[in-house]
Amino acid sequence: MGFQRLAAEVWNGSFGATKRSAQIFGWGKALPERVLTNDDLSRTLDTSDGWIRERTGIEERRIVEEGETTASLAIQAARSALARAAFDPADVDLIVVATITPEYLFPATACLVQDALGASQAAAFDLNAGCTGFIYGLALATQGIQVGAYNHALVIGADTVSRFVDWEDRRTCVLFGDGAGAVLLGASSAPGGVLTTLLGSDGSGAELLILRAGGSRHPATPETTASGMHYLQMDGRKIFRFATRIIPQATREALDRAGLPLEHLELLIPHQANRRIIEASAQRLGLPPERVFTNMARYGNTSAASIPIALCEALEAGKVQVGDHLALVAFGAGLTWGAAVIEWGGPWPVAPVARRTRLLLWLRYRWAPVRSLFRRLRRALGALLQRMPPL
Ligand code: ACO
Repeated sequence: MGFQRLAAEVWNGSFGATKRSAQIFGWGKALPERVLTNDDLSRTLDTSDGWIRERTGIEERRIVEEGETTASLAIQAARSALARAAFDPADVDLIVVATITPEYLFPATACLVQDALGASQAAAFDLNAGCTGFIYGLALATQGIQVGAYNHALVIGADTVSRFVDWEDRRTCVLFGDGAGAVLLGASSAPGGVLTTLLGSDGSGAELLILRAGGSRHPATPETTASGMHYLQMDGRKIFRFATRIIPQATREALDRAGLPLEHLELLIPHQANRRIIEASAQRLGLPPERVFTNMARYGNTSAASIPIALCEALEAGKVQVGDHLALVAFGAGLTWGAAVIEWGGPWPVAPVARRTRLLLWLRYRWAPVRSLFRRLRRALGALLQRMPPL
């Protein structure tokens, strides 16, 4: 244990206490097949590959097709995280889906995920904290695990922002892509895992990134549709300034809370909104580019999915070793921000998942819709019996 961490634990009053840590032991991502390049966009919009690359670092993004939704991507990412950990969904006790583009206003997308996974013991809810949603979910699940309320939690970030952008508005539509990422968190007596999380909000900036209609303030009407109020609206410049200030600030604060000096941070995984935001923030922090992960060139800003997708890709690329310290940091609509510091605990299974496990999970997922159908039939039968006159 480093001296600073020891000092932080003494200061927090947690030194010597037996702690349950929350470790990430499964991770997965889901991206639509369809690729939309900058050149594709420039065929229908007054924009160019050069402008988008230079101002954002984005080269292409993935876009959902008919039949693909926030829930379908979330389910795919969750299954991939469970498969990597060879974990039975029936043992998951919490599912959090962070999203700003849920399947419906209600019920929660997390409940659709719960049903499709056959996660029969899980509580499930959605969380809207803009692009920071995944870190909010990670914080809640970590705290739930640390206090013993949960043993295994799936935290998913999933968004299909492409369904809410005006494809004629070059200031916004070029920025976003669709996708989902998930982690399976579990209780452990080993040290490390999620060391600390930090969350913040400033609702005075609510207007800076907003989807005005479809909620209780402006329910959907022909007028709201005609005036484009169902499209995302954004003040890019103000968000840019906010982001370049808050990313270094939240990262430093989270590292301080974890008692970890910046020199001991092996990898920063920031929200993938704009390469210039990331470069300016890294510069302010004094972090060289090789210690900052970026993948927005291929996916654009996938909102709440951006951090877990980037985490998956950093792991797949071998950029994270056991014992490494990572910081995740994000900002988003709200305004919100958040950061998490993780000591990578592995080695979790990185070998291909055994055929037997794959078969068991396959059977579980085939069984899930049957289980769901039985439950619906039971409810229908119950209603029918109630309506029948007493004998
Ligand atoms: N192609 C060509 N020109 C464009 C495009 C485009 N796609 N978009 C804007 N322009 C033009 C503008 O019209 C403007 O032209 P003008 O000077 O004639 O008026 C010019 O380019 C400069 O526009 P700016 O808005 O000043 O460009 P800027 O360099 O600020 O880049 C951008 C805009 C990329 C949106 C940047 O401000 C940004 O990334 N902001 C942060 C956005 C963000 O991160 N949002 C996600 C938040 S997370 C969440 O919760 C979802």
